Amino acid sequence: MQFTDIIEKKADGKELSTEEIRFMIRGYTDGVIPDYQMASMCMAIRQCGMTARESTDLTIAMMHSGDVADLSDLPGIKLDKHSTGGVGDTTTLVVAPLVAACGGTVAKMSGRGLGHTGGTLDKLEAIPGTDVELSMERFCEIVRTIGVAVIGQSENLVPADKKMYALRDVTATVRSIPLIASSIMSKKLASGANAIVLDVKTGSGAFMRRQDEAEELARLMVDIGTMAGRKVRAAITNMNQPLGMAIGNALEVKEAVELLSGNIPENDPLFEVCMVLGANMLELGGLARSKEEAEAKLREKIYSGDGLRRLHWMIDMQGGDASYLDPDRIEELVAVRRRIAVPAPRDGYVTGMQTEGLGIAARLLGAGRETKGQAIDPAVGLVMQVRCGYHVDAGDPLAVLYVNDERNLDEAEAMVRTSVFIEDDYRQPEPMVLGVIE
Ligand code: URA
Ligand code: CA
Repeated sequence: MQFTDIIEKKADGKELSTEEIRFMIRGYTDGVIPDYQMASMCMAIRQCGMTARESTDLTIAMMHSGDVADLSDLPGIKLDKHSTGGVGDTTTLVVAPLVAACGGTVAKMSGRGLGHTGGTLDKLEAIPGTDVELSMERFCEIVRTIGVAVIGQSENLVPADKKMYALRDVTATVRSIPLIASSIMSKKLASGANAIVLDVKTGSGAFMRRQDEAEELARLMVDIGTMAGRKVRAAITNMNQPLGMAIGNALEVKEAVELLSGNIPENDPLFEVCMVLGANMLELGGLARSKEEAEAKLREKIYSGDGLRRLHWMIDMQGGDASYLDPDRIEELVAVRRRIAVPAPRDGYVTGMQTEGLGIAARLLGAGRETKGQAIDPAVGLVMQVRCGYHVDAGDPLAVLYVNDERNLDEAEAMVRTSVFIEDDYRQPEPMVLGVIE
């Protein structure tokens, strides 16, 4: 097989065989196929697309390029969730313990934050002592004991994706739906869960700006997962404003604890999205027969405190000091040198937000990283004081910045001011949950 012939075939818009796709991924992972040929192939895929069958073959070939987690020793249906990357998206810290409290088995592998989006591992590490780099044995032991644990992906999980993503990043081939879907799904399949709920974000803070693109990506990921023998559902959710009010690691832990304490109203966007993700996990896990039954169970686990207790256990078993989740001690995690309000420049209604800008503001304050491996400050970030649809007077706070290092303070402040749109006329806020694909 000559790889140039395979590139040519794809560039001519033809469908690649399973064998050709396997040859490509094996060759690229082993270093036999050079970067320039793979770059050309990625561009051909970006331009000509792939069928669901090709995308599934690509995903499975990528999955087998490295370690594949074996969770078969754990009983029942192993549940996972995955977000395509949001701002103020602390849903995992809420949903994972809640689903476990409902009897689910949640074995979750998470990532770190990059660019304007946050990562669950960084949030967990904001709680002193919490270890997200446990051995597979210890991970499974915790899941078996309390139904939930969250760890980082192993170093050798889908090496083909690490190499391809770095290449795509510098060859304008990131924005290809089959390449994104296979990148995400190869990691999810290699993580070993039987049932996966995806949260595909769309809007100004998301990878997929347009809803139709988000739906296409969601549809393809569900098809890939199903063809690979897993149960998959995808919620399409709105990123035209941050999901929670908090953006920053300890600040988002605090907001998750607030929700699990029953202190966040049920019509709040974060509450709403947590319910849709959690309910779909319960249904896939065979723990509820309908959306209504699933949501009722989740609510019960919030108001009884069982969900919060489960989060305590999880932190404790992962080596963290769970007493930091108590109301008085959690303040220690978000203690900063200065808290600075960003005033509204004018009167009016909040009609929209540039969510990415708000994520960037938090990053500028030290809550996120621009490049892999950069250090972050767990305490800093910002807490929004407004949502879409709110009325403000000039001078009212749009957000409160939590600041330790003032180097980028002016830039962060300006970023918040220009990322919240204020107009004279009220506009009905968009719904947060735009659909579920199964
Ligand atoms: N996230 C991924 O993991 N891969 C992509 O290609 C895009 C987003
Ligand atoms: Ca939040």
